[in-house]
Amino acid sequence: ACTTLLVAGCGSAEPDPGPASPTTAGPAATRSFAAGAAGAGDPYFPSYGNGGYDVAHYTVKVRYDPETDKLSGTTTMRATATADLSAFNLDLAGLTVRSVTVDGAAARHSRTGNELVVTPATGLTSGNGFTAEIRYDGRPEPLRTESLGEGGWLHTSDGAIALGQPESASTWFPVNDHPSDKATYDFEITVPKGLTAVSNGVPKGKSTSGDWTTWKWSEGAPAASYLTTVAIGKFRVTTGEHKGRPVYSAVTTQLPQGAPDRSIARTVEVADYLESVFGPYPFDSYGGVVIDDDRIRYALETQSRPVYSASFFRQGDNTGVVAHELAHQWYGNSVSIQRWQDIWLNEGLATYAEWLWAEHSGSTTVQRTFEQKYANAGSQVWRTPPGKPGVENLFSRSVYDRGGMTVHALRVAVGDTAFFTVLRTWAAERKNGNATTADFVALAERVSGKKLAKVFDPWLYGTERPPAPKPL
Ligand code: ARG
Ligand code: ZN
Repeated sequence: ACTTLLVAGCGSAEPDPGPASPTTAGPAATRSFAAGAAGAGDPYFPSYGNGGYDVAHYTVKVRYDPETDKLSGTTTMRATATADLSAFNLDLAGLTVRSVTVDGAAARHSRTGNELVVTPATGLTSGNGFTAEIRYDGRPEPLRTESLGEGGWLHTSDGAIALGQPESASTWFPVNDHPSDKATYDFEITVPKGLTAVSNGVPKGKSTSGDWTTWKWSEGAPAASYLTTVAIGKFRVTTGEHKGRPVYSAVTTQLPQGAPDRSIARTVEVADYLESVFGPYPFDSYGGVVIDDDRIRYALETQSRPVYSASFFRQGDNTGVVAHELAHQWYGNSVSIQRWQDIWLNEGLATYAEWLWAEHSGSTTVQRTFEQKYANAGSQVWRTPPGKPGVENLFSRSVYDRGGMTVHALRVAVGDTAFFTVLRTWAAERKNGNATTADFVALAERVSGKKLAKVFDPWLYGTERPPAPKPL
């Protein structure tokens, strides 16, 4: 078997003809093939993701029967090795792997915890592409994190929903489960005839054979794995077209028609407003899904089609949450974090978008929202640095409210012209990519021509209330 060794023939037997084939790394005989890392190297979640390869595309085909709670799947991953690999890991929680092939040849596989270890018949050479196909089945189960709640596949009263942040995907398909490795996706979800299966991206039609219907979805822009979703059940579906892109929204029929339907019907209107501030909408479809399950009390910006808990609409129409989840399509989804510590980049900007939308829709100005938060935030918010919140406080009020206040402090410091240029440039330059807090600060300094450590440091890393913002 190919573990760490220096033997010709243990690497790719045939040189890959592809353009990515390396020419600088030396002859195969001097190469050292080793197992890829079991984590992507994120200090907050060391086991998330894996090392040694970069995924370009997943095709996820699953069949799920809510009656028996059984799922069977075939996931095909197209990737490029970024190291000479004797083996590599995927993240997969629960479920039973039946077979794995790499480039069409049978591969060995084993499991330790939520890691699937794949050992191909021959090593994978750095720079070369490869395709892995994994067949698996079982009863999917959500992952429970003490501080963060449940993530992943949940069996619901009329179907299932797969949803979660910071992790979810590995409960229903094998995946490099970290936002630093974004990929495009095709989904084929097969469910009992009569049920709907909604996922990310563009609807590619459905076909029924016997008692089963297969729903096809395609996300053509790179997506972080936690932004994948599927919702299976009975839904009121609304379809349309906007700016040449499909609109597809679904509300669970467990809810009477009303506030949820009216609120997500305003998705394209809100997206158009945000586009006027942030620059072009980054994806090729629109929509939203409203679910009603006591275990999910949040909304999530799943790519191009956020999922909303019914709890957001119990007091009536709510476009604030729609503005928040849609803002993430720019900030979080198109421009993604490279490590979970930088979550304020997502949540601070999405919170700020809520404030902008509130002002645009005439309820209250951004300045007044800031002042109200600044005056009333509790000691917990001032104690928790949003730029370094720790795993426990990843989704705490500080990350959201103080994150939003940080954005406003930047605006006051550099002025409106530079500020809105920063927002648009961030979305444009980092489109479909990843970035860090340091990248954001560097951009703000470049655009404004000002040193901004004195603004960002107390807001992001201080443990007491920063002084009120003032122009620099
Ligand atoms: N990113 C989601 C939002 O913007 C929140 C996810 C909350 N996650 C959690 N594990 N509770 O609203
Ligand atoms: Zn958010």
